[in-house]
Amino acid sequence: MPLKISVRSVLPSREAGDIIVVGTPLLGGGRSKKNQRSPLDGFDRALGGALGRLIKKEEFKGKKDQLLSLSTLGRVKADRLIVHGLGDVEKLTAADVRTFAAKAARAANADKARRLVLGIPEQLVDRLREIVEGLELGAYRFTKYMTGDRKPKAELGQVTICVVGNLPKDVKERVDLGQTIAAGVNLARDLSNEPPNILYPDTLAEASRVAAKDANIKVQVFDYKEIQKRGMKLLQAVGQGSEHKPAMIHFSYVPANPKRRIVFVGKGVTFDSGGLSIKPAAGMGEMKHDMSGAANVVGLMNVIGKVKPDVEVHGIVAAAENMPDGNSYRPGDVWGSLDGKSVEIINTDAEGRLILADALAYARALEPDLLVDNATLTGACVVALGNSCSGWYANNEATAEEFAGAAKASGEQMWRMPLLEDLKDQLKSDSADLKHTGDRWGGSISAALFLREFIGNVPNWIHCDIAGPAMGDRIRGWDPKGGTGHGVLTFLSLVDRASRAAAAAPSASSLSAAPVPAVEAAPAVKTAARKSKKAAKVSAQPAGTKGGTKKSRAEGPRTAKVGDAPGGDVGAREPQGRKTAARKRR
Ligand code: BES
Ligand code: MN
Ligand code: ZN
Repeated sequence: MPLKISVRSVLPSREAGDIIVVGTPLLGGGRSKKNQRSPLDGFDRALGGALGRLIKKEEFKGKKDQLLSLSTLGRVKADRLIVHGLGDVEKLTAADVRTFAAKAARAANADKARRLVLGIPEQLVDRLREIVEGLELGAYRFTKYMTGDRKPKAELGQVTICVVGNLPKDVKERVDLGQTIAAGVNLARDLSNEPPNILYPDTLAEASRVAAKDANIKVQVFDYKEIQKRGMKLLQAVGQGSEHKPAMIHFSYVPANPKRRIVFVGKGVTFDSGGLSIKPAAGMGEMKHDMSGAANVVGLMNVIGKVKPDVEVHGIVAAAENMPDGNSYRPGDVWGSLDGKSVEIINTDAEGRLILADALAYARALEPDLLVDNATLTGACVVALGNSCSGWYANNEATAEEFAGAAKASGEQMWRMPLLEDLKDQLKSDSADLKHTGDRWGGSISAALFLREFIGNVPNWIHCDIAGPAMGDRIRGWDPKGGTGHGVLTFLSLVDRASRAAAAAPSASSLSAAPVPAVEAAPAVKTAARKSKKAAKVSAQPAGTKGGTKKSRAEGPRTAKVGDAPGGDVGAREPQGRKTAARKRR
């Protein structure tokens, strides 16, 4: 349930609630005007000088994140007052503001308060959207499976934001936007947190339908049969060992006369046991979050349908459960793919890149101007960057700049990683076009290089490895423990930028520009495109097989003969797309 949020131009000391949190700039002026009112005005007097004494005793200066907490004994219209230092307000980033509001919401929940009064100084009135986001994101808890004493007794439901100063005219729009965005992030968190006995490909598809309906956008679901029919062999390979068969989900938001098309892709492994290359028991339960990339796409598309940007946006989710079974795919297997390339399976725990490969091949047929995938892809990325930062890769500098700008504006920690060409050797196979894993060193990079083999000639591509921050080991900033929705804010900011660029200069945006591959990326992109054609031919008639006849495909994997064409005859087929429309626009 969204919070009931109202914004008033009133001193917080006058407002009623269960708890009051006041954000204060540095005490004693700083750069603020002398006669400017403080959101703390009125409290000291009402409390009989107790606030002043505490400020002195605790040497409270209003430095960033300095805190005071006191019981009001009923002398103002709330039981507890928390004073939260903001430091130099002009220097606060979007992340700082969101974190401040999230802490206030968390303090309210911890105090079993239902009504929060949040006092903010005038300088923060321009940051209402971030404040609202912080409130909703900080108030988030995943408690749906708790009963009895474990069920929270009270829940924050109402917030009054008290601004010391004038209110902007578009207060309602800003609050609505903040709440819409936060609801998308919280939806992503909910999906990520769902236990894997409840959330599997079919139920993720059902949740996607609900999210699409709520946002009034289109969604298509491909079931297991359709996946096999279309030749998404890698998705099939990963998913076939589970009782819960895989699914592919395609959201589309198509406004009138869009000038750009952006496609987001998410890894939806609803549980990653590792498959036959089974994971150690410790921490395996965390792998229920292995569909966080998919959850982000669902949350993102839910917001997109509501904020209606000026660009066309698609969301693609490849969903599967990775399980050990008599029918599981195995190390040593060779499988075809939607792209046509054949892949030798090395370790069944590297399943994410396989299902993404088919999802990317599907996505590229939509001819996106920008293709962004996000996935809890590698432990190596967590080793490199820790638990609070994603690693991302770009196939050219202009796109990298765009994405870096979006990440910075959003406040989510994202660090660019290099597509080191020499690591490509690790993907050479003796029995297929590609091996799907390299060695241990540079594991996040070789995974990215593998994915790049499947983007065809899409001009602008970003791969974002969210393995660390997607699943929080503790509370951080506005993120809770567990599923975080990390990535959604950056992706929204990316769409927002593209939308503005489209409105401002229809042909001058870096997103719409003809491919400007970086020096290092250019040959690789070309090679991939050329190879793809070659691979398509090869897999149309794989060595040692008679090719995939309709019959052998219909019989399905259980009855397939030794060496039966993993690529089948579908390798050469382009995934269905909207080619003509796209071409016309160019
Ligand atoms: N889902 C995991 C990656 C992961 C690890 C996400 C830790 C979040 C936290 C992925 O499917 C995986 O198992 N990757 C392997 C790849 C390896 C077998 C090449 C890994 O990172 O160990
Ligand atoms: Mn895995
Ligand atoms: Zn995984």
